[in-house]
Amino acid sequence: MIVLGIESSCDETAAAIVSDKKEILGETVLSQEEHKSYGGVVPEIAARAHLEHIDEIIEKTLEKAKLQLKDIDAVAASSGPGLIGGVVVGVMAGKAISLALNKPFIAVNHLEGHALTARLTSDVCYPYLLLLVSGGHCQILIVHNVGEYERLGTTIDDAAGEAFDKVAKMLNLGYPGGPMIEKKALSGDENRFTLPHPLSNSTDLNLSFSGLKTAVRKIIESYSPDGKIEHSIINEKDTADICACFQKTATECLTSKLEKAIQIFKKNCPNGKDLVVAGGVAANQYLRNALKDLADRNKLIFSAPPIRFCTDNGVMIAWAGLERFQNGYTNELDFKPRPRWPLDENAPKAAGAGGVKA
Ligand code: KG4
Ligand code: ZN
Repeated sequence: MIVLGIESSCDETAAAIVSDKKEILGETVLSQEEHKSYGGVVPEIAARAHLEHIDEIIEKTLEKAKLQLKDIDAVAASSGPGLIGGVVVGVMAGKAISLALNKPFIAVNHLEGHALTARLTSDVCYPYLLLLVSGGHCQILIVHNVGEYERLGTTIDDAAGEAFDKVAKMLNLGYPGGPMIEKKALSGDENRFTLPHPLSNSTDLNLSFSGLKTAVRKIIESYSPDGKIEHSIINEKDTADICACFQKTATECLTSKLEKAIQIFKKNCPNGKDLVVAGGVAANQYLRNALKDLADRNKLIFSAPPIRFCTDNGVMIAWAGLERFQNGYTNELDFKPRPRWPLDENAPKAAGAGGVKA
C-alpha cells in the first residue's frame, strides 16, 4: 500500500510518498524563504507561495519515487489546523487528485502527522506518551491509537516554538528562532540568569511560556540605556548566555510536567513503553538529551524522529494518512479544511472530525 501526502499548513510546501513497509519512496520539502525579513510567517504570502509551488512539488516527489499518480492507493492532505489559505491549497490539490484518479482522499490533522511520525521512523507501539512541541502547539498526550488521543496538558498561552521564536526576535536572531537559539546556546552559560518556571507548582499538567518570555525581555531591556528593547546593546557573550538560560529553563518546564505525566501514563497504560517527542521543537538536541535522561530514569524507551522529520514535511502526512487508511478511515470530498482542529477531538467516533469508516 502506498500513500501520497501533501503538507501546506504553514511555511513548508511539501509532499511525500510512503509505503506500508515503512519505506519513504519519494520526498520533497520547500521551506518558503519569503518570510525571513518579516520575522514570522505572513499568511497571504504563504498561501500564494504554496499555490505557486504545490504542483511542481508533487511532480518532483513522484519523479523521485519513479511512480505515477495512478500507482498510489490514496492521497492524504494536511487539512488543519494551520493557516487556512495554505491548508486550502493542499486540500484542493489532494481532492483534485482523488477526484481525477478515483483514489480515496484522507484529511489528516497536521498534529496527528507530527504525533505518528515516530512510528514510521522507530518501533513505537500504542499506547505511548507524547510531548508535541511545535510553533503553534505544546501538548502532553497519551496516544492510544490512530485518532485516539488523550490530552493530559497543554500550554495556556504561548506554544513552545512560539516562545523560542519570540525570544529570538527580541535578540534579532531571525526567523525561525529555535535553531538559532540552539546554536547560540552552545557557547553560553546556562546558569548565568535565573528565569522563572511558570506553573511549576500547579498540580495540573498545563504549561505556560509567557512569563518566561517576559523575564527574558526584562533582561534584554536592562541592556538598553533608556529601557527600550530596540535600543539594547547586547554582545555575543550576553546573547549566548541568554539563549542558554532560556533553552535550559524551557526544557526544565517541559520535563518537570512530563515527569508527572509519566506517572499517570504508567498507571493508566501499564503496557505503554515509549516516550516520544514530536513537532518542530523536537529538533532541539538539548531538549532531546533531557528527554532521553527522563525516559531512562523512568524506564521508558525514548524516541524522536530524525531532525528533518521534526519540522513540517510531507512524510508525516503521508504516514498518518497511511495509518488512517489502513484503519479504514477516509473522507468525503466535501470535507472542509479546519483552521482549528484539536487533536483530542480527532477520535474516529467524534462526529465530523475523524472521517468515515469505509
Ligand atoms: O512543527 P513545525 O515545523 O511547524 C508547526 O507546525 O508549527 O515547528 C516550527 C517551530 C518553530 O517555532 C521553530 O522555531 C521551532 O519549531 N524549532 C525549534 C528548532 N527547530 C525548529 N525550536 C527549538 N530548537 C530547534 N532546533
Ligand atoms: Zn507542524
